[in-house]
Amino acid sequence: MLEGLRRLEYRGYDSAGVAVLADGSIQFRKKAGKVAALDEEIAKAPLPASTLGIGHTRWATHGAPTDANAHPHVVDNGNLAVVHNGIIENFAELKKELAEKGYNFVSETDTEVAATLLADVLATETPGDLTKAMQLTSQRLEGAFTLLAIQSQFPDRIVAARLNSPLVIGLGEGENFLSSDVSGFIDYTKDAVEMGNAQIVTITPDSYEITDFFGNPAEGKEFKVEWDAASAEKGGFASFMDKEIHDQPQAVGDTLLGRFDDKGKLTLDEVNIDEATLRSIDKIIVIACGTAAYAGHVARYAIEHWCRIPTEVELAHEFRYRDPIVTDRTLVVALSQSGETMDTLMAVRHAREQGAKVIAICNTRGSSIPREADANLYTHAGPEIAVASTKAFLAQITASYLLGLYLAQLRGNMFADEIQAVVNELKAMPEKIQQVIDGEEQVKALGTEMKDSKSVLFLGRHVGFPVALEGALKLKEIAYLHAEGFAAGELKHGPIALIEEGQPVFVIVPSPRGRDSLHAKVVSNIQEIRARGAITIVIAEEGDTAVEQFANHVIRIPQAPTLLQPLLATVPLQIFACAVATAKGYDVDQPRNLAKSVTVE
Ligand code: M6R
Repeated sequence: MLEGLRRLEYRGYDSAGVAVLADGSIQFRKKAGKVAALDEEIAKAPLPASTLGIGHTRWATHGAPTDANAHPHVVDNGNLAVVHNGIIENFAELKKELAEKGYNFVSETDTEVAATLLADVLATETPGDLTKAMQLTSQRLEGAFTLLAIQSQFPDRIVAARLNSPLVIGLGEGENFLSSDVSGFIDYTKDAVEMGNAQIVTITPDSYEITDFFGNPAEGKEFKVEWDAASAEKGGFASFMDKEIHDQPQAVGDTLLGRFDDKGKLTLDEVNIDEATLRSIDKIIVIACGTAAYAGHVARYAIEHWCRIPTEVELAHEFRYRDPIVTDRTLVVALSQSGETMDTLMAVRHAREQGAKVIAICNTRGSSIPREADANLYTHAGPEIAVASTKAFLAQITASYLLGLYLAQLRGNMFADEIQAVVNELKAMPEKIQQVIDGEEQVKALGTEMKDSKSVLFLGRHVGFPVALEGALKLKEIAYLHAEGFAAGELKHGPIALIEEGQPVFVIVPSPRGRDSLHAKVVSNIQEIRARGAITIVIAEEGDTAVEQFANHVIRIPQAPTLLQPLLATVPLQIFACAVATAKGYDVDQPRNLAKSVTVE
C-alpha cells in the first residue's frame, strides 16, 4: 500500500495514512507530510501483518494538513475506517444531524462526517451489510467523492463508492485492488476495470461486484494497462519533471502513431461522431485549464487556419458559469492530461446538456472526461507524474493538430498534398525536439545563473504568445518566482513599464521563413526592451542571425514551420524552470500548494 501511495503521491501530498485489518481489529497510522513521514511513523510503530487495508494521500480541502485531519478516519469505536477523495458539499448539515444523534467529531473534515454517517447507517439500517450501507450513505452525500471503507466484521472486503471522482479496479490473481488511477497497482497487475459514475464496488480477493447507488447491478469495462511500472519510475533522472521533459520526443511520436492509413490519409478511429455532424460544425470551443488551456490556445491558430472554423479557447471554469452560446453545431474540444480535472469535466457536462458534441483529448484512458465525451482522441504521452505538465502539453498540441487536419480533410478545406506536407513536418518533430533537449546544458546554466531573479518576463506573438504564457506558468508553479507572459504586441500598451535594468525577458522569435512581418515585429520588440535595460534571452531558430545583435543570450531551436514551432520553443522554457527550481533547492515534482489532478471545483 505504501508503494501504491508513493506512486499516487503526485495527486496530493499534504498528509498520508493507512489502515489495516488484522485479527478482527483495525489498526491505523497517519501523519501530516509526505508518504516518507508516514513511513517513519510506521517504522516507529509497526503495523501487524495483514492482507486487507486502505491508504490515502491527501490534498487538503476541509481542514489544514494536520495528523488529525489526515485519512483514514476511523470511527465506530475503531471498527470502521474510511478514506476519501473529493468534497462533500452537504457535510455541514449532515454533521449537525449526526451531532444531534450524539456523535462526536475529532477532525474538521467532511470525510469524518461521511464515515460517521456510514457507521450510523450500518448500525441502524443495514446491520451486517457494508455494501448496502455504502449505497444508502452515497444516496445522501452531495458533491464529489470516492470513498473506501473497511469494517472489522468483514475481514475479506473493501467497499467503495464514486461520484464525480476517479476510481479504478485492479484485478490480480487471488488479490484485487482499488486506486484513483492504475499507477496505484501497476506493480501487481495490468488488468483493470473502469467503473461508471455514481457506482459502488465491493471487492474481495477473488471477486468484484458493481452496483449503482440503489443496488442495481452494473457492468464494469475491463481493459489492459498499456504502460508498465518502469514508465512511472524516474529512470535515473533527478526528478520526474526532468524525465518527462526527456520523454517528449517519444510522447509526440507515439501520439502520431497509428493515425494514418497506407495512403497517408488521416483516420482518427476514436472519433466516432458521424461525419455529417462534423461537417456541419460552425464553431469550435476548446475548454481546458492551466497548461492544457495554453495547448488549446496554440491549437486555435492552427485549427482556424486549416479548417476556417471560428475557434474559441476558454478556461473550463469560466465557460461553465458564463452562459456560453453553445448549439448542436458547436464542437467542444476538452483538453486534459488527467481526464479528471473537475472544472473541465463540469464544462463537458454543461456543453453536452446544451446539445454540443464533445471530443476529449486526454492522456489517461478510462478517466472521467473521455468516458463522458462523445468521442476521444488519446494522447500517448505515457504517465505524467510531475505536477508541472510538460510532455502532456506537447502531446496535446500534437493531438489537437491531428484533429484540425482531420477536420480540414473531412470538410475539404485543404488538399491532400497540403495535409501530407504538414503531417510530414509533424513526423519530423520528435527528432527536432531531441535536438533541443540535447542543448539543455546551456539552458540549465542560465537557470542556475538567474535563480535569484525577482521576476522573469516572457514575450511571444502568434503561437509564441501561449508558449510565453506556458513558460511563465512553469516558473511560477515550481520555482515560486514571479513570472508573466505577454503578447509581444501588447508590450507598448503597458507592460513595457516593468522593464528596468537587469530584468530578464525571454522572447520567442517566430521563424523568419514564415510571415516576414511577424518576425520583423518581434525583432523590433527585442530592441525596445533591450534599449530599456532588459537582459534578453532569445529563442530563435537556427540561421536567424537578425536577432543576434539584440540578444544577451540566444537559445537555438531547429527550423520548423511557424505553427509547429511551439513543439520546440516550449522545451527550453521547461528546462529553464526545472533548473531554477533545482538550483533553489525546491521539490521540483511536488511544488507547494498544488496537486497533479485538480479533482475539486
Ligand atoms: O489534467 P489536466 O490537463 O486537466 O490539468 C490541467 C491543469 O491543472 C494542469 O495543466 C496544471 O496547470 C499544471 N500543473 C501545469 O503545469
